[in-house]
Order: sequence, then structure tokens, then C-alpha cells
Amino acid sequence: MKVLGIESSCDETGVAIYDSDKGLVAHALHSQIAMHAQYGGVVPELASRDHIKRIIPLINQALQEANTSLDEINAIAYTSGPGLIGALLVGAMEARALAYALGIKAIEVHHMEGHLLAPMLEDNPPAFPFVALLVSGGHTMLIKVEKIGSYEILGESVDDAAGEAFDKTAKLLGLPYPGGPHLEKLAQNGDSKAYHFPRPMLDRDNCDFSFAGLKTAVLNALNKSDKSAQTQANIARCFSDAVADTLSAKCNKALKQCGYNRLVVAGGVSANSAIRESLTNLMHKRGGEIFFARKEFCTDNGAMIALAGMVRYLNAEYASLEVNVHPRWPLSMLKAIEQDKVKNILYR
Ligand SMILES: Nc1ncnc2c1ncn2[C@@H]1O[C@H](COP(=O)(O)OP(=O)(O)OP(=O)(O)O)[C@@H](O)[C@H]1O
Ligand SMILES: [Mg+2]
Repeated sequence: MKVLGIESSCDETGVAIYDSDKGLVAHALHSQIAMHAQYGGVVPELASRDHIKRIIPLINQALQEANTSLDEINAIAYTSGPGLIGALLVGAMEARALAYALGIKAIEVHHMEGHLLAPMLEDNPPAFPFVALLVSGGHTMLIKVEKIGSYEILGESVDDAAGEAFDKTAKLLGLPYPGGPHLEKLAQNGDSKAYHFPRPMLDRDNCDFSFAGLKTAVLNALNKSDKSAQTQANIARCFSDAVADTLSAKCNKALKQCGYNRLVVAGGVSANSAIRESLTNLMHKRGGEIFFARKEFCTDNGAMIALAGMVRYLNAEYASLEVNVHPRWPLSMLKAIEQDKVKNILYR
């Protein structure tokens, strides 16, 4: 069986094909970063229009890469939320139209379930249960994952998401959008002892996060500084250390709370090497296991949507003929799936 997955929730158009026997057989991506960078952030209307331009060529590219044709595809999965409504509608219309024309099922995929399952595209995928840390542009969440679809939110950010904090801090430092990867690079030359930024909410006995104050601390430090290149690198380094420490401490709390010793980390910010290292050290100290997606599958992509779509297809969750998108859609609304139904495709 083959599922074609379409991602269009924000500023990446992604298409991929997941084969139940062979795993991921193709993935194609177009990032709109260069288009939005001149505005300092995503312009929703431009995003939607660009998805329209890219989506069909990317589908053709993925089919070609997989050496397959549309009539060999069993279902079309698409991100139906959460995300920008106009951008979501492009993927939804394309997926529904294709599925209808081919007489096959369309599958609605939750974007954050896509991120959460992305590490399962790698060799040696995690077993269940685990704690998942989702750190992306719009979300920072700790989730108790007993099985696919059984998602108990243990904590989340009360203000900025981790990716948003990276992007806003990078903007203060004069770096281009999206700032996360640029800030990571700048931080490599920074002195970790130059500043001590707050580790927000570590004293609280919960798994929630807050990153807005950290951004203010950076702004104050910057205003008082000589703004030299070295100072900027020092600030970048100390900011990313503060985020890494906070994420590690909260992951530790969540693992203790659940009695688990397996951590799965996903979302754009999990591409950050310093954060990967800090969380890997935590799990090493705990004698536990840690799993990440390869870096290109940390940020938005079609591969994670094709995989999540295959899983939901195997659970017979088909979209109705209505074209549905859900700009807001809590993860906790998803259905739990018994392991037996999906283990053959997850652990091939
Ligand atoms: N190396 C990195 N270091 C820090 N942050 C990074 C890195 N690479 C990407 N990011 C951040 O990840 C975010 C993008 O990730 P992702 O594509 O998962 O988010 P999104 O799809 O915009 O949000 P969501 O999935 O919550 O809707 C941006 O904020 C970006 O700055
Ligand atoms: Mg995303």
C-alpha cells in the first residue's frame, strides 16, 4: 500500500510517498523562507498562493522519485490542521480533488502528530510508551504518549513557543527570518559564561514553559552592551543555553512524572545541535533512550504527513467528502490506535 502525503500548513510545501512495505520512498519539499524573509515573517496570503504554484510539480516530483504513478496510490493524506487556514485549504483541496478523481480515500492528518511521529521514519524507531517533547515554531509541549493517538498534554508554553523565542531573539540580534538556524550558528562563537539568562519556570512543580521573559532579558542585555559581534555571539550562546537547560529540566520532570525513560524530540527547534546535545546528555545520565528525526524532518515536511496518514489509513479513519480544515485542533482529540494495527509499518 502507498499513501501520498501533502503538507501545506504554513510556509513549506511538502509531498511524500510512504510505502507500507518499503517505508518512505519519496519526499519533495519547497520552502518559502526566501519569499517571506523580506517581510520578517510569514505573510499568510503569499503562503497560500505559493502553495498553489508548487503543489502539483512537487506531487509529480515525488511520484517520479518513487518510480510510481497516481493509480498505484491507495490514499491521499493531507495536513488538515492546525495551521494557516488559507495554506491548509490549498493542500486540502488538492488532496480531496485527487482522491475523488482517483476513487480513493482522503485522510486528514494532524500536523503535530506528523511532527511527533517523524522520528519513526528513522532506523531504530522508538518503542511505546514515551514522553514527547514537541518544539516547533508554534508549539512547545510535553506529551505522555502511551500509544499512537493517546496524547496527554503534560505541559506547554504559557506564552511564546520555543521556535518563536528563537526567531524573536534572532530578530533582536539583527539576524534574518527564520532566526533559529542563524542564531544557532552565531552561538557557536559565543562564550557560555558571558551572561546568565533566566531559566523560566524551573521552580514551578509542573511541565509548563515560558519564554517571553527570556526574550526581554536578551533585549536588556543587548541595550546595555557594546553590541559588538563578540557580544552578540555571547548573547546568542547564553540564550540558547538557557533554552536547552529549561527544556532538559522540564523533560526530566515529565519523565519522572510518567515513570518513563524514553524521550522523543520533534519539531523545528529539535534540529538545534546544542539542544540535541543537552537532551542527549540528560538521557545518558538517566540511562534512558532518546530519539530525534533527521534534521531535515524536524521542520515541516511531507514525509511525516505521509507516515501519519498511513497510520490513520490503517486505522480506517477516512475523510468525509466535505473539505475540512481545522486551523485550531487540540492533539487530545485524536483517536488512540492499537499497536497491532500499525506495528508492521512502524517496525519493519
Ligand atoms: N537549528 C535551529 N535552532 C533553533 N531553532 C530552529 C532551528 N531550525 C529551525 N528552528 C526553528 O524551528 C521553527 C520552525 O519549525 P517547524 O517548521 O516545526 O514549525 P512550524 O511548522 O512553523 O510550527 P508548528 O509546527 O508549531 O505549526 C522556527 O521557529 C525556526 O526558527
Ligand atoms: Mg510544523
